Formats: sequence, C-alpha cells, structure tokens
Amino acid sequence: MSTTFQIDTATSRANPTPTPMRRLTIPAIRQRKKDGVTAEPVVMLTAYTARQAQLLDAHCDLLLVGDSLGQVIYGLPSSLPVTLDMMVAHGAAVGRGSWHAAVIVDLPFGTYEASPQQAFETAARVLRETGCAGVKLEGGVAMAETVAFLSQRGIPVMGHIGLTPQAVNQLGGYGARGRSEAEAEKIVGDARALAEAGAFAIVIEGVVEPLAVAVTKAVDCPVIGIGGSAQCDGQVLVTEDMLGMFERVPRFVKRYADVAGLISDAAAHYAAEVRDRSFPGIEQTYQPKA
Ligand code: KIV
Repeated sequence: MSTTFQIDTATSRANPTPTPMRRLTIPAIRQRKKDGVTAEPVVMLTAYTARQAQLLDAHCDLLLVGDSLGQVIYGLPSSLPVTLDMMVAHGAAVGRGSWHAAVIVDLPFGTYEASPQQAFETAARVLRETGCAGVKLEGGVAMAETVAFLSQRGIPVMGHIGLTPQAVNQLGGYGARGRSEAEAEKIVGDARALAEAGAFAIVIEGVVEPLAVAVTKAVDCPVIGIGGSAQCDGQVLVTEDMLGMFERVPRFVKRYADVAGLISDAAAHYAAEVRDRSFPGIEQTYQPKA
C-alpha cells in the first residue's frame, strides 16, 4: 500500500491518505496465537522518529521504540547510558507518526529492575507521556514478579530473553545464547515464567534456532524472534540494520535496501553541485501549484 500525507497546518501533524485501519490493540496481538498456532505472523520493526514511524506504520503490527536508539541514533557504545527522558521523547514522536501499529517502548537500564514498584512508576510515566500501548523489559525468571505486578495494574508488558543487551557486561558480549543444554533450559524456563506472569508477547534474541523453536512451542503468547527462527510467531529487526544504514550488522540481519549508499551518493552529488556552482537556483526547483 502506498501512503501519502497531508499536513494539518494547525497542528503540523501529517495525516495519512488513505486513512489507515484502526490502531491494533494488545489483546488483538496476543490473540494472534491460538492453541499454539499463529496463522498471521506478527510484524515488528524498531522506530525512533515520527517520520520513520509514518513510513513503517502501514506495514507493521508493532513499532518498537527500542533502547537500541542509544547506538543507532546517539552513537553510544551500548544501550546502558540510554535515559528515560530519551525513551519518552522518542516514544512520543513515534506515537505522533503512527496510526495503525501498536507502539511499544523499551524501559531503559536502571529504571525498572530494583522493584516492581520502581517498574510501575517508570512504565506509568512512559504510557502517560508517550501514549504507547505497552512496554518491553529485559529478563526472565528474575523479572516475572515485576511483569505480573505491571500486567495486573493495566500495563501490557512484552518480555525480552536470550541475548539481553542490557546485561552485556554479565554476558560478556553479544554472542548467541543457549548453546549449552543448561543455558537452553534456563531460557525456556525464563519464557514460561514471563508467560505465566502475564507477558502479552516475548522477544527472543540471538539464540540458536532449535531453542527459538522450543521457546515458541513452550508458551501460549506470541514469541517474536530476532536472530532466532522463521518458525517464531513473529519477527523484529532494527530498521536501520535492515535498511542497510550500517556496514556492520549482526550475522542474522538481511539487508532489504542500501540506504547508506543512497545517502552517500546524494550527499556527494549535492556537494559537487555546490562546489562547481551548478547548484540549481530557485527557478529550477520551485514548482508553483497549478
Ligand atoms: O532495543 C531494541 O531495538 C530491541 C530489539 C532489538 C528487539 O530490543
């Protein structure tokens, strides 16, 4: 579907044409998986800005305002320095730029792990100030009590297990998880604990394929893979990775475009025109409305 936008001059909001479907709800996403089967896989991509959200929205069920924005947008070395203010600002922008997909915002490191109460206060601020549909947090068994606390108080929670980037210092890097039988069993236990606690969906990142399949089969809620298996109930990728914005991406990422190449070529073309004074004047670029 090709979407265009009309600017509402009073609010500067770009409204999509044609008007998209109603926004998907968390129960609708949760119910995609029935009796262990997900007939229509869940499509999720990260989004950090309003314009990016406008372009992705019609194609996605879920837009994730991931704390990967630390590396992708801010050039930080990991997601650990990402603040709640950053997540709230980008979450609100993605909310303004989307109409159809349910928006999920990551809770950043250090804002939810201390207690269920701390997590509730953080998540409540995120929902209040961004208008998002739910939050994502990292961790399995250790976070189950928190997931139950939030879910029972009206906050939909997406879990995140396997390779959990906020635990990079403890994991010792970003390598695939679940290679040993003991670790694989632990990860299946994490998934079960989150599902029983009320998580509406679980992201499983960077695990060996048989483990991604085992986790998908082990729980009732949709399991969304990133570097897991095509057999998961859905998939997520970092949008800039799949657009080809970076030279180095995780091995499992398929590039669907070469946006880095397009930007670089356009900038080189512009720079050449400025330098040789062939940069077009207004009479060449301005096209008056008919
Ligand atoms: O922060 C993020 O973008 C994520 C996805 C990679 C799942 O958590």
